[in-house]
Amino acid sequence: MSKTESRGPLYHVLRAQQFDRALLDRLCDLTTRIRKVAKVKEGADYLQSLLSNKRAILYFTQPSTRTFLSFQNACHILGIRTSEIRDPSTSSEYKGESPEDAIRTFSSYVDVIIMRSPIAGFADRTAAMLDETDRPVPVINAGSGKDQHPTQALLDIYTLYRSFKDRGGIDGKTIAMVGDLARGRTVRSLSYLMKNYRGVRLIFVAPPSRRMGDDIKGFLDKMGIPWKETEDLAGILPEVDAVYMTRLQDEYDEAGESKKIDYDKFAFRPEHLEILPETAIVMHPLPRRNELHPGVDKDPRAKYWRQERNGMWMRVAILAAIFGIEKDILDPYGRSSHV
Ligand code: CP
Repeated sequence: MSKTESRGPLYHVLRAQQFDRALLDRLCDLTTRIRKVAKVKEGADYLQSLLSNKRAILYFTQPSTRTFLSFQNACHILGIRTSEIRDPSTSSEYKGESPEDAIRTFSSYVDVIIMRSPIAGFADRTAAMLDETDRPVPVINAGSGKDQHPTQALLDIYTLYRSFKDRGGIDGKTIAMVGDLARGRTVRSLSYLMKNYRGVRLIFVAPPSRRMGDDIKGFLDKMGIPWKETEDLAGILPEVDAVYMTRLQDEYDEAGESKKIDYDKFAFRPEHLEILPETAIVMHPLPRRNELHPGVDKDPRAKYWRQERNGMWMRVAILAAIFGIEKDILDPYGRSSHV
């Protein structure tokens, strides 16, 4: 059997479309279990023993705070040792080494590559390239240009799953995505994951020049997921179960075109809480700017700080699934009696 044939249900994490409902439910249950086990020192020590023979590299050539730190801490929770490159000018890429050769070099030293890149599809190409070598290792896409951010979408699903666990789960919910949807990789990946839930409805609220891409709309049509688009944020808030705010992605501007957009129309402010249903939630992948007023933070419907923390636990679950230690965490009668 070849190395690629012997892989489990999760190996590379490259795009949201690769996840089915069974795997999403498994990851959510595992995340909840990990949070509980890690609460006590004995459990945290046990988790730290599980992958102490593994090493990871965090190769982040685009800025990041939470994805970088949550993956780094997720590795440490499982005992995985980490190294990092955050600036190619400090690596041999400065001397002309190609990113492909740099990545092949990482695979000589580590057991998993966690990478953020400004280039759409680069993580996919990296994974395919490594699969052809004698040292294939799993590749995790931690954000690829304007294209995808699959692990953000997984933590978003976990946040929705937790928030709606007493209201029938994610099935049947209406989710509004607000902001720069054309260049927002988090909303693109989350839209793809909606194929796994029954009766979900999406509302896209965006400036005309920043509407959700036709590729995503075509995918939703193919999957039979109803969607509509509008510029009227206040108008749709009374009908939503979740409102997912996003910032202007002006780092991708080519000629300062974002300056022409009136983004105030796509900002969630304290007065919007008056018309948001009591059972609805407010999400944001963060970082935020003015599109989400800090005056919203104390409202119990504001879930973005929890969402951020969920990211670390979900990323522990992703690593645990990749390295095939789910049973060691879920089975209290397995290797350790104290978890
Ligand atoms: N949500 C997110 O990806 O944040 P960072 O860019 O800080 O990693």
